[in-house]
Amino acid sequence: MTDKLRLALVGVGRMGAFHARTLAPSPLIDVVAIADTNATAAAALAAELGAATFSNLDDLADAEDIDAWLISTPTTTHPDVVRAAFAAGVHILCEKPLALDPAESDALGTRAANLDLVLQVGFWRRFAPPWARAKELIDAGAIGRPLMVRLSQWDADPPPASFCDPVSSGGLAVDCGVHEFDLAEWFTGLPVTSVSARNLPLVDETLAEVGDVDNLIAVLDLQGGAVATVDLSRNCRYGDDVRTEVLGSEGALFVDLLPTGRTRLATAMRNEVVVGSETDDAFAAGVLAQAEAFARIVSGELLDYPGARASSHAVAVGIEVRRVAAEADNPPSTPV
Ligand SMILES: NC(=O)c1ccc[n+]([C@@H]2O[C@H](COP(=O)([O-])OP(=O)(O)OC[C@H]3O[C@@H](n4cnc5c(N)ncnc54)[C@H](O)[C@@H]3O)[C@@H](O)[C@H]2O)c1
Repeated sequence: MTDKLRLALVGVGRMGAFHARTLAPSPLIDVVAIADTNATAAAALAAELGAATFSNLDDLADAEDIDAWLISTPTTTHPDVVRAAFAAGVHILCEKPLALDPAESDALGTRAANLDLVLQVGFWRRFAPPWARAKELIDAGAIGRPLMVRLSQWDADPPPASFCDPVSSGGLAVDCGVHEFDLAEWFTGLPVTSVSARNLPLVDETLAEVGDVDNLIAVLDLQGGAVATVDLSRNCRYGDDVRTEVLGSEGALFVDLLPTGRTRLATAMRNEVVVGSETDDAFAAGVLAQAEAFARIVSGELLDYPGARASSHAVAVGIEVRRVAAEADNPPSTPV
């Protein structure tokens, strides 16, 4: 590997194009190739970035001087594209979730380890300053023992029903929920042991055609008695918002994405914004920091990162939330 990670972007739709423009100024990463089955989309972005274009993965795999692929293709294609990356012998940063089947995700993780390739999953919140500072403070004992976690992910508007389809993306519980389920376990260090969940009445009626919902709430029991609540929405209208609150035995942390990213630490001694947590665009900062951490890991630095196991765990929780919420929609009839 040269000083900069020579990165190919595979899939440059909504998220891949965001990666491309966010990573462009990085001193650690050179986006050298753009691959997309939609050759027109790939060519336009490649021209903007001065990168080579590929419209099929066999040609990309044959290309020399590429260290890693960042995969942002549709979720159902991830396992095949990851296997193509294995065959090409490149390291992988794959968008979340790695696979809709937890067992397949674990198998990909095992294969990556056997090939000595890095396989990182795109849980960008872990790298965004507001959440990264909060995690450092929790680990340092700043709020004592975590007891309650409240996690909200409210998107402005739903993507098309074809995307929301649980078969395509996992639906709201998996596609959106995995970020929050991962955070609940990462922040507390405690695995989810059981869940309860409810769907809310549909706002976007077209979602009924694919069997998805646009609002749900879940309660996650964590090992040892701590609890996390997760509420997900696709219709808050004012922006894509994420908020996280952690109550510990000695204080609390409040993490905001909007209107600007920041973390507030509140204890008996202080109630103030945490130095180093403030970020105008915490989403972009997290996406950049996650890719730069990936570049460092590929070059041999020993950093903690979310891999296949983190994805399979979060997806398994999401599948259970979807199942339990659907059951609650259709309870067995009881006498009134
Ligand atoms: N981390 C996040 O916050 C976040 C946000 C949005 C999307 N995502 C994830 O990003 C992924 C992509 O989502 P999106 O909304 O950008 O989808 P999209 O449909 O907008 O883009 C997918 C792109 O991949 C291309 N493509 C499809 N199959 C391909 C293949 N085999 N090889 C190469 N290119 C291929 C398509 O032509 C398209 O340009 C999903 O897994 C999604 O979960 C993550």
